Amino acid sequence: MTDQYAVLGNPVTHSRSPFIHACFARQQHQRMEYRAIEAPLDGFESCVSQFLQGDGKGVNVTVPFKEQAWRLAACRTPRAELAGAVNTLWRDESGQLWGDNTDGIGLVTDLTQNVQVKLEGARILMLGAGGAVRGVIQPLLDAGCSQLFIANRTAEKAQLLVEQFAPLLPEGVLLQGGGYTSVPSDGEFDLIINGTSASLSGDLPPVNPVIVGAHTLCYDMMYSARPTAFCQWAITHQAARAVDGLGMLVEQAAEAFLCWRGVRPDTAPVISLLRQSLA
Ligand code: ATR
Repeated sequence: MTDQYAVLGNPVTHSRSPFIHACFARQQHQRMEYRAIEAPLDGFESCVSQFLQGDGKGVNVTVPFKEQAWRLAACRTPRAELAGAVNTLWRDESGQLWGDNTDGIGLVTDLTQNVQVKLEGARILMLGAGGAVRGVIQPLLDAGCSQLFIANRTAEKAQLLVEQFAPLLPEGVLLQGGGYTSVPSDGEFDLIINGTSASLSGDLPPVNPVIVGAHTLCYDMMYSARPTAFCQWAITHQAARAVDGLGMLVEQAAEAFLCWRGVRPDTAPVISLLRQSLA
């Protein structure tokens, strides 16, 4: 029987994960199939257990089930534990259900390997304080930045994240958070990451553009065929570069593939293929 994998979400028809994992499987000569399954909003748990009972070997989890997947996993990797969300599930030999979160490592790998930005010593501004942001905070802090400011429409949510991650702060790193108006405007940031879903509705976080300088890289955790609203904002304000999150998507998938199959695919050709398929 062929090993079965799936991404579970609702809605899930837009998911590029089946395309990405089919590319990985071909590249690595792995006998497996991967499909998208729309789980009922009130039936995520039974959908997972049904899928993993048969030939199902692993599941990716997307919106809106990542927190539910975290609660469902009997064992969690340390990075999933901190993220409070799980995007990758599988059973070990003894039948225990494991959960991992590969979003943060996916972001950091895309930034350092593909975009080739230096995170050591970087001043980073994170826009947003929702589930997607929570999943990437610790890997960003561990990557050696000197400052991370989390700015959010609802300032309290940014402050809560700061409180949560403060005890785990690597030495010498400044972690702060607040509303958009409290973003320090005394100099440019090296990296500004959009982790909000604001650009979906065409709204952009009201950030003072003085923080964008000729060396600033702007990175949108979202991606689309055309430059995202945030990338357009960055270009308008003469950022050094504006990059979307397509590479992050492929890198987080490669980490999930590694969890399941024990081998990490070569991501560069898959990023190119995916970009072409969007055009
Ligand atoms: P996700 O899992 O995608 O992170 P989420 O947890 O609902 O989803 O978080 C969405 C994020 O986008 C939040 O930071 C949210 O800001 P609030 O916490 O103030 O709600 C942000 N967001 C969504 N729509 C926005 C908008 N129109 N303007 C600014 N921020 C927005």
